[in-house]
Order: sequence, then C-alpha cells, then structure tokens
Amino acid sequence: MDGGCRQQYLDALGIVSWVRRGDKGGGADAGADEASLETPPAAANPAPAATETPSPAPVSAWEALEAAVAGCQACELHRSRTHTVFGVGDRNARLMIIGEAPGAEEDRQGEPFVGRAGQLLNAMLRAIGLERGQVFIANILKCRPPGNRNPAPDEVAACAHFLRQQVALVRPQVILAVGGVAAHNLLQTDDSVGRLRQRVHAYGENRIPLLVTYHPAYLLRRPEEKAKAWQDLQQLHGLLHTD
Ligand code: URA
Repeated sequence: MDGGCRQQYLDALGIVSWVRRGDKGGGADAGADEASLETPPAAANPAPAATETPSPAPVSAWEALEAAVAGCQACELHRSRTHTVFGVGDRNARLMIIGEAPGAEEDRQGEPFVGRAGQLLNAMLRAIGLERGQVFIANILKCRPPGNRNPAPDEVAACAHFLRQQVALVRPQVILAVGGVAAHNLLQTDDSVGRLRQRVHAYGENRIPLLVTYHPAYLLRRPEEKAKAWQDLQQLHGLLHTD
C-alpha cells in the first residue's frame, strides 16, 4: 500500500499512530506494519467527564479488514454465500499459501481448505515440517462461486484488494500459489502450472518470492502428479531456509 493510500485507510479507521511489529527482516521500509490504535499518553488524554461516552475499543488493521470482508457486497457472490472465508493461520507467518476460492465445505465453515483438498494440503505442509497453524492460508476469492465454477474476472477484481492487504500485513518471506487460478491472478499470466512451477517468481512491488505448484484438488484427481508437487515442496523448503 503506498503512503497516501495507507494514510487514507488509517484515517478512515481512526487510527492515530503506528506500532512497529517485531522485525522479521523485512527492513524499516517494508511498508506493511500492523497498525493499531494506541492509548495516547495520560497528559494528552485527560480523564473523560462522567457524562462522556467511553471511546470505542481499538481497531487493528486486521480487525478492520476482517470486518470489511465479512460485510462485503462488492460482487454477486455475496448473495449465495453462507460465510465469507477470510483466511486462517499465523498472521506473522513466513509462508503464505494462496488458493483459488472457497468450496462447499469452506463456505459452510468459513475457513479455507477444510475439505478433502485441505486435508491433502495439510499433509503436504507436514511433509516439509510445517503445521497448518504455522502458515497463513487465504484464497483469491473470499466467497464461494456457486457450483465450484472458476472465479469470474469481475469477482476477482472486486476481491483483489483484500488479498493485497493480507499479504501486506503478513509480510511473508515466501508465497506458494496452489493451482492455476491463484498463479494466473497473482502473476498476471496464463501460462500453465506445469510451466510456472519450479521457478521463483516475484509478487508485488516488494517482489516477494512466489512459487507455484499444483492445487491439492488436482492432485487428488491426478495422484501421479504428486511426485512433481513433492519436488515443488522441497524447493519451497529450501527457499524458506535460506537465511
Ligand atoms: N480450494 C481452494 O482453492 N481454496 C479453498 O479454500 C478450498 C478449496
């Protein structure tokens, strides 16, 4: 988020100051610190008169973003969803996994990758020593396209700013795009996953290293491709352990 845009966002939330999160190596100008409302020092904040209403609770950028997703009506998908699916996991994760869109089970539970594909994703992560709770998992879309159809371009466009803000807040060291829809939208390409995998791409203005692998739902249908996914996971493991 650029400075002007960030300031507008903070102003809209009534956020008056910044708290810099513990340094993860992103550098002083990483530009995605978590914002929170700090209590001003006592001298600048005299006790309210008895008749004054108490000020509202502090709102963090994460809380504001979650609320914005939960109330979003920017595309037609809000009409058919049961739950929005915000994303789950460690908000300081080194690895962010990005999938396509919620399926039926995710729509029911409000959490990404909880169906069969999710179980395979969990196993894939465990294969490189990671538990689901140690990564942050999100999707290109926050609402389920009916009948599990592919996301439509207008739906992706309406939703993209949520994911951009999530990436800016998490500041992952590496992004793993699972499946063609995630890869195509994050990299603005229509190359096949087969051509995109095994290369280190760069995402966004901070050029976050991004790898592409097969979607776990595809691997459930084509288990013979799991060997390639394993190569991709090993590459990911290597990238996560290069410091
Ligand atoms: N497939 C995805 O791409 N995301 C989910 O959350 C579930 C299935």
